[in-house]
Amino acid sequence: MIYNSRSIIQMMCTGSIRYGGGALEDTVSLIPIGDRHLGEPRPKTTVASLREKKQHHEPITCLTAYDYASARLVDEAGIDIVLVGDSLAMTMLGYENTLSVTMEEMLHHTRAVRRGVKHALLVADMPFGSYHATADEAVRNASRFVKEAGAEGVKIEGGEKRVDLIRRIIDAEIPVAGHIGLTPQSVNVMGGYKVQGKSLAGIEQLMRDAVALDRAAVACIYLEGIPREVAGMITAEVSTPTIGIGAGLDCDGQVLVLHDILNLTFATPAKFVRRYGDAAALISDAVQAFRTDVASRQYPSEGESYHLPKETQAALDTLLARKRSMRR
Ligand code: KIV
Repeated sequence: MIYNSRSIIQMMCTGSIRYGGGALEDTVSLIPIGDRHLGEPRPKTTVASLREKKQHHEPITCLTAYDYASARLVDEAGIDIVLVGDSLAMTMLGYENTLSVTMEEMLHHTRAVRRGVKHALLVADMPFGSYHATADEAVRNASRFVKEAGAEGVKIEGGEKRVDLIRRIIDAEIPVAGHIGLTPQSVNVMGGYKVQGKSLAGIEQLMRDAVALDRAAVACIYLEGIPREVAGMITAEVSTPTIGIGAGLDCDGQVLVLHDILNLTFATPAKFVRRYGDAAALISDAVQAFRTDVASRQYPSEGESYHLPKETQAALDTLLARKRSMRR
């Protein structure tokens, strides 16, 4: 009889081999438990604490995150708002733009992020089509982000023309973040991703949008792709905190897409993106090194392998020897 792994497993299951167990070495996955944030206890970011930051001229920080690990790292780094942006359509799912991402996909990622965020305010983007048909449907979809995925607020693109709908959602006890300027869900109407508010009429519309959102009591207003001067005027005019992306230094806070700052987008970055790390190089180098190690049998080492306890090995040797002698 030839002893392949199947027959050995059978022998173990029938009790003809006893194996030890319970040692730490047998624990395949060691999930770290506990908070790695070792500094002062950190207060939870709330809609009210964002307003306080604006009042005290303390810059607000926001980054996107789309999964548990990145959400946890962003949160533990002390970022105020974690945004599950619909930019995940491109960064995580490889779509061409944000228009294709669905409610179910956004909910799936928001749930994962929820499990990684303890202190930051968790805001989820309402995807294209989820708030455009009726206000009832918009409220239902916004509620799903809170109820099913643990979001603490939702973000909606558009100013004046979305204000009635935004009030309905706020009436349903759901904080709303506004988003005006270059709103990527309007790409087909804008005819591309173009800086907004460069003409007097454009500036006037942006001011009306911002004031309308301010009066509706949104939690914050994202200002995307507008001249610094216009973002500064809006920020001075409204009591709602403004969070800029490509909107210059005079906003109350700044947001960037995590994949942009980490060089994980496979695209030429926009002018406002600052790269803080090169995760693409890090991942490529690690993957290449793994490939080389496996191909040259340098991985796994003895230290990276599990071994039978001595007594099990002895019992196995005896058993195999007995089987061999029976074959003769
Ligand atoms: O989807 C997103 O990441 C965003 C931010 C860029 C504001 O909307």
